Amino acid sequence: MANEPIANLDFKNLGFTYTKTKWNYLSIWKDGKWDDGVLRNEDTITISATSTCLHYGQEAFEGLKAYRRADGDIQLFRPDENAKRLQRSCHRLLMPEVPTDKFLNAVKSVVKANQEFVPPYESRASLYIRPYILGIGDNMGVKPATQYLFGVVCTPVGAYFKSGLAPVNFMVTDMDRAAPHGTGDVKVGGNYGASLYPHEIAKERGFADCIYLDPTTHTKIDEAGAANFFAITRDGRLVTPKSSSVLPSITRMSIMQIAEDYLGMKTAFEDIFIDRLDQYVEAGACGTAAAISPIGAIEVNGKTHVFHSLTGVGPVTKKLYDILTGIQYGDIEAPEGWVYWIKKSEIIK
Ligand SMILES: Cc1ncc(COP(=O)(O)O)c(C=O)c1O
Repeated sequence: MANEPIANLDFKNLGFTYTKTKWNYLSIWKDGKWDDGVLRNEDTITISATSTCLHYGQEAFEGLKAYRRADGDIQLFRPDENAKRLQRSCHRLLMPEVPTDKFLNAVKSVVKANQEFVPPYESRASLYIRPYILGIGDNMGVKPATQYLFGVVCTPVGAYFKSGLAPVNFMVTDMDRAAPHGTGDVKVGGNYGASLYPHEIAKERGFADCIYLDPTTHTKIDEAGAANFFAITRDGRLVTPKSSSVLPSITRMSIMQIAEDYLGMKTAFEDIFIDRLDQYVEAGACGTAAAISPIGAIEVNGKTHVFHSLTGVGPVTKKLYDILTGIQYGDIEAPEGWVYWIKKSEIIK
């Protein structure tokens, strides 16, 4: 049955790599409007070598996941928030917005068409969905494109923590991923190009990723690699950097609400000074990829600051992780509007 996971894919051992699926979506914006879009099998695109996305970084993308529930149905987690964030990215780079309905229909149709690639519930893996928009067409000067391509591809990806939630370590980098008043708060390719080098250095030195400091003063935490940073204060509040150059994470928005509504905690956006880390009893990185990565330690100027523990997970981080992933996989009832349910009987094509 096409709605069941493919038996011969080793869902338990998948990494974060691209395994081809059967269907992807593509739509073109031309002469001031979007076409209807199509589902297609070919996962390559042919565009002009002079496209603005290739030379001037006029492109943006999103990342979200579909999760298999224990009853076999599939859930999307807050895809409307990804639609809104893509619209903000489009606005910043002078690209036409993808209307929310068009975005949601494209994502849902790609998931339904590729149901057999949505990993089984027990594997704790998921289907990663990548909507993207590119400036295309013939162009030479630095100016916005006259045509755009909106696409959605997907691939099954493995559980981030294969043998259970475990802390990871970060190092502070002196490089920036985004400039003050630049594009750090939108999800555009240029930010990620700038992050490859510091990420590589962190990896070579045995860290999961690097901590970026605020680009103006380099005294406060901005982001934790390609994830948002949060910490738990000694008085039990969940705090996260107050910064205009971090990407507003949908996972962060969700764990702040979970902390308040499920755990009765106070939450706040505030400055997190890198020389005052002893105020925090737990810390973590949050994002779609891992949900929450507990941070064991951060290396700052050659010294290692340990939060809760290098080997164990703090109690608040563990509760946040369990509730968030419980909602994502359908074990815990979701707050109103968070989950888009795709019944396994709804197969298209
Ligand atoms: C730079 C950056 N920060 C934060 C996040 C986390 O955002 P979300 O929770 O929406 O995945 C991501 C991932 O999309 C990211 O790339």
